[in-house]
Order: sequence, then structure tokens, then C-alpha cells
Amino acid sequence: MINLFFIFVFIFIIVPLSSSVEHDSHLLRRGLVQQKYLEITRPLPFANLTPSCTLPILTHDFGNTMGLPPISVDYTPPEKCSWNHVALQFNASCKGVQYDRIAAVWLDGADLLRTSTAEPTVDGVFWTVTKDVTRYTSLLVKENISLSVMLENLVDDVYTGVYRVNVTFLYYDVDDTGVPLKLRLVDDVFVDSPIRGGGSLSLNDKPADLIMPISGYGGEGFWFRIQSDSELHGKSVAIPKNTYKAVMEICVSFHGDDEFWYSNPPDSYVRANNLTSQRGHGAYREVLLNIDENLVGSVVPFPVIYPGGINPLYWDPVVSIGAFDHPSYDIDLTPFLGILLDGKSHFLWFKVVDSLPFWLVDANLHLWLDKQCTGDCAVQAAIIDSGTPDFEIEMERSSDFQGLDGSYEVEMKRKSEYRGWVKSSAGNLTTTVSRELKFKNKIKFHEKGNEKKVKQKVKEEIEISVVESETGIKISHTSLKRKYPLTITTKTSKPSKEDNGTKLMLSELENEWSEKKKWGEGYSSSSSSSSSSLKNGQKCKGWMNVQDNVVVQGEATTEQRYSYNGEASSYSREITAANGRLINDTANYFKFASFTTM
Ligand SMILES: *[C@@H]1O[C@H](CO)[C@@H](O)[C@H](O)[C@H]1NC(C)=O
Ligand SMILES: *[C@@H]1O[C@H](CO)[C@@H](O)[C@H](O)[C@H]1NC(C)=O
Ligand SMILES: *[C@@H]1O[C@H](CO)[C@@H](O)[C@H](O)[C@H]1NC(C)=O
Ligand SMILES: *[C@@H]1O[C@H](CO)[C@@H](O)[C@H](O)[C@H]1NC(C)=O
Ligand SMILES: *[C@@H]1O[C@H](CO)[C@@H](O)[C@H](O)[C@H]1NC(C)=O
Ligand SMILES: *[C@@H]1O[C@H](CO)[C@@H](O)[C@H](O)[C@H]1NC(C)=O
Ligand SMILES: *[C@@H]1O[C@H](CO)[C@@H](O)[C@H](O)[C@H]1NC(C)=O
Repeated sequence: MINLFFIFVFIFIIVPLSSSVEHDSHLLRRGLVQQKYLEITRPLPFANLTPSCTLPILTHDFGNTMGLPPISVDYTPPEKCSWNHVALQFNASCKGVQYDRIAAVWLDGADLLRTSTAEPTVDGVFWTVTKDVTRYTSLLVKENISLSVMLENLVDDVYTGVYRVNVTFLYYDVDDTGVPLKLRLVDDVFVDSPIRGGGSLSLNDKPADLIMPISGYGGEGFWFRIQSDSELHGKSVAIPKNTYKAVMEICVSFHGDDEFWYSNPPDSYVRANNLTSQRGHGAYREVLLNIDENLVGSVVPFPVIYPGGINPLYWDPVVSIGAFDHPSYDIDLTPFLGILLDGKSHFLWFKVVDSLPFWLVDANLHLWLDKQCTGDCAVQAAIIDSGTPDFEIEMERSSDFQGLDGSYEVEMKRKSEYRGWVKSSAGNLTTTVSRELKFKNKIKFHEKGNEKKVKQKVKEEIEISVVESETGIKISHTSLKRKYPLTITTKTSKPSKEDNGTKLMLSELENEWSEKKKWGEGYSSSSSSSSSSLKNGQKCKGWMNVQDNVVVQGEATTEQRYSYNGEASSYSREITAANGRLINDTANYFKFASFTTM
């Protein structure tokens, strides 16, 4: 008999709220079945090839590591190995009772992977994260640098789970396996990358020549631990004078009172109802990136839900979008090279608007260097003042509460445009970066705060164009549109004497990441343009019966649809998981021949 409905025994601990129930809880569970966990994503384009070399770099058991520095080992790339693509493989297993934890892998201080851990069962869980790290090639070729992993865990009589981790680098020589040299890998997609007329530099299609980590000193991990809105963290850097392109990659994760920042009520609600919860400051957060005193970019992060979040039964065995491989966010700083190339150091720093303890933020500054400009040569650059406001922000907040019921809404819009010219051996090129960000969040409480509904929409459009400064001839154009809608509904019944103090918690969740990307090079008749799209959505529904902080019963379903269409391949996958099992899993993968025979 196939037993789809088996009873779990879960315990969980919630931060007690005086009169209301914490809806979006960080729960602990005790499952029974051995299980392989997974995050649904598409395979790496070179995943089916045999790596030319494999480097097992770190094996460590993360037991009671709270407050300890990260584990570091020496890294040197394998000798006599021909490679041009690299994957990082992070394998983990755990047995017992344990919370989900946050972890990161750094190479020479640069953040390569931000990941959260699955919550274990008594019989153990295990999983593998494989990430394309080719964009960090300039670090991966270095000798005698350190690779560090931090995974803050707490082990005692109650929390018994030790996370056993293996980190491996897999090196691939993609050209040797039939893919011609001129096909380069851009965002997992093979695209033709013609050498542009006259210039010898390619602007979009190759890994940076230098990566400068904008990160901490490693004692407590290389991330900056941001505890409040008033804290700012960063690093002073002086970039090489032959830099012609710069991109900041920002890595973030949110924890503690801000783990569910998108569902935090305003402080007035917390105060008026005498709640002991520290989760407040409303439901808008934005990570701001600054160069000295100038705001140059911002990120509203995708709401990654950790494997203990909302209802842990949702994330068994399929974890939430981004849980095992957090998205990072790129901000093109090329228009600001006019500031950065003055030969001086500049303070690059972050803050998180309205943040509560705590956020973990760091960044990798990717720099491309003009190899034909050495010695006394310097790339010249300046910001072009477009005369329009640089960083417009409109913000509206409203709240309407009576006791524990009511609603709260916050809306934010940001528009920015930056332009700058850079004169390198590729010519005098003007880069324009425009961005529009729209954020909307509404929280409603009913039934004396026992029912809560969160609806959030984030929409972002980024356009980057590069033109030849004197002639106005377009060199390249990229547009990226991203959306991440989220809805969460939670209902909690008050414990009553008749049902023996059992609380029933019902919830529904919809979370989605979708993006469309278009890019083209040249605007003549021989111009090429490419596009890709991704839609990745999850729908979850479930209930839990909770008695004395123990979930005695529960059922949950998670449906996920993943659909990617790129130039070189398309991939789709639909899964349904119910009560800890995959009950449906269909995948389609096409590789388009034309892109491997060009
Ligand atoms: C990691 O997991 C993958 C996939 O299960 C497996 O192929 C690989 O051998 C594992 N690596 C290590 C070092 O355990
Ligand atoms: C890690 O590697 C060791 C040695 O190869 C292996 O015994 C163990 O099962 C691996 N663990 C994981 C989680 O992959
Ligand atoms: C790395 O360390 C090894 C062993 O100490 C040494 O032989 C080698 O020269 C070092 N490489 C660099 C680039 O410093
Ligand atoms: C909150 O506490 C104050 C002072 O103890 C009290 O006057 C007020 O009635 C309380 N409000 C609620 C909603 O319990
Ligand atoms: C590059 O082009 C811009 C815009 O046309 C111009 O203002 C600037 O002087 C040029 N720079 C150089 C070094 O020629
Ligand atoms: C009520 O809960 C207690 C403690 O878990 C248990 O011992 C008892 O049997 C329960 N009673 C009923 C009627 O379910
Ligand atoms: C599984 O997926 C297939 C194809 O999408 C569908 O026809 C079938 O009804 C699904 N089965 C379940 C149990 O959801």
C-alpha cells in the first residue's frame, strides 16, 4: 500500500507574542523519513559533460559553530588541467533535530554561494547545490588563496543535527567537447560573441579580469552583519587605472526579526496592541549601494523563504525558490568610472533601509581591464550630467487599524538614469543605465489578528545601452525585466480546552520569480539580438495541528512550475509534492542544435 499520509511529529518554537500569534514563523520540525532535498532549477549547460578535473576542496562537519570564524582551506587550481568553465558543488547531509541555517562559501573573500540548509529528519536528509561559478574565473586561476565556509549552527541536547558538508570544484573544458571557441557562455546561454569592429574588447561576454570583494575581514564570516537602519558597512578600494567596465554583484540574506520583513506590521500596530514581538518597521526594505556620499544603486531582494519558514511541511523535499542558491543582484557601475578612476580610494558601502537585526550583506566588484593600456596608460572616464534628477523616489505609507485588525500598505517607486563615457582602446563609449523599480506591499489582519494576508509585488526594469560617443552608433543594448509577486495567507485558531489546547494553523503561499532578458550587439543590418525568459513559481497549501509547541499532525502540498526559454536551450519542469513526497515530476529539456554547430 502506498502510504501518502503519514503522521509526522514536529516540534517548533515560536517567539511568543503577547496577545496575537506569530504567523510567519521560523519553525523547527522533527521528521522521520530519510530524504533527498532539492531546489528546482535548470541543469547547467555543461552539466552532462565530463569534467576535465575535479577538486574536492573542503570536507567539514558543522557542529556547534556559533560565534566561531569560518572554516578556511587553501585553494590552488588543479595543475595541468585545461578548463574554461567551473561549477561549485556544495553537498550536505544532516541527521537529527535542527533549525535551518544560513551558510556561505567565499573564495579570497568573494561571495560565491549563499545557501540555507534543509531541516533534517531523524533518518537524515541530504542535498546537492551545483552552481556555475565561471564568472569568478579571475579568482579561480589564483594560487594559494583561501576558500572559506561559514555555517552557524548550534548543537546541544535538543538540537542534535550536525551539518556535514563537502565542497568540490568541477572544471570543464567546454571548447574541447565540440563547442566552438567563438561561442561563449553568457548567463548559462551560449551566444555568438563577435569581436566588435575596431575594438578588441568584449563588453558583455567574458568573466571579469579582476574581482575585488567588498566584504568584511572574516572573523565572523566575510559578510557585513547589519543590525539596524543606521548602520553602514563597506570597504575603501582603489581600482586599477585601466578599468573599462565595472559591475557590483550584491549578495544578501535576512534573518531574525527581518526574516519575514515583507510581512512585518508598522511599529504603531506593535505598540498599540502591546505586542512583545520585535518584528515591526513595516514591510519595505531596500539595500542601498553608495560610492562615498553618492547613492548609486539599490536592491529590493527576492523573498527567499528558508526551509523552516511559514510551514516547514511545504519544503519537504522541494525547498523554496532560491533557498539553496540565493539570487545575487548586479548593478552596472560603468557610468561611475568617472569617479572611481581618479586614482584615489573610494568608500563603497551599504545600508538596509528600515532594517531590524539582522541582514548579512556583502558584494563582489567585477572589473574588466584594458589589456592594451598598461604602464603609463590610463582609461579616461567622466560622468555625463543628464540634467534630470538622478534618483527619484516616491513613497507612500498608509495604515488603518482598530485593535488587532486592519490594514497597512506601502508603495515605493524609484527611477534613475546614469550616463558616463569611458575612453579605452576600444574607443570612447558612453554607457547609459536606466532603471525603474516599483514596490507594493499590503498586509491585512482579520479575526483579532488571527488571520493575516500579505500581498507584495516587486517589478524592476533595467536598460543598459552602450554607444560610440562621437558617432552615436549603438554598440550594445541590454534590457532586463523582473517581477516577483508574493502572497501569503495564514489563519490560526485560538487554542481551546475542548480540543486539548490544540492550535490549528492553515496557510497558503504563492511566490514567483520571473524575468525577461533581451540583448543585442550592433545596430547595423548585421546586428544580432538574443533573448531569454524565465518563470519560476510555487504554490503551497497546508495545515498543521500544534499542541504544546509540537506539530502533531499536518498536511501540505507544493506545486512548482519552472519554465526557461533561452537561445541555446529550453527547460521546463512541473512538480507536485505532497506530505513529504514527490507525487508528480515532469521535465522537458531541449538543446537547439543550431547553437552548437555555429
Ligand atoms: C555530491 O553530490 C553529487 C550528486 O548527488 C554526487 O554526484 C557527488 O559525487 C557528490 N560529491 C561528494 C564529494 O560527495
Ligand atoms: C562527503 O565526502 C565523503 C568522502 O568522500 C563521503 O563519505 C560523504 O558521504 C560525503 N558527504 C556528502 C554530504 O556528500
Ligand atoms: C603557492 O605556494 C606554493 C607552496 O608553498 C609555492 O611553491 C608557490 O610558489 C606559491 N604560488 C604563488 C603564486 O605564490
Ligand atoms: C496596553 O498597555 C497599556 C498600559 O499597560 C494599557 O493601558 C492598554 O489598555 C493596553 N492595550 C491593549 C490593547 O491591551
Ligand atoms: C568622449 O566622448 C564624450 C561625449 O562625446 C566627450 O565629451 C569626451 O570629451 C570624449 N572623451 C575623450 C577623451 O575624447
Ligand atoms: C491532552 O494532551 C495531553 C498532553 O499531551 C495528553 O496526555 C492527553 O491524553 C490529551 N487528552 C486528550 C483527550 O486528547
Ligand atoms: C501529473 O502530471 C500530469 C502531466 O502534467 C497530469 O496529467 C497528472 O494529472 C498529474 N498527476 C497528479 C497526481 O497530479
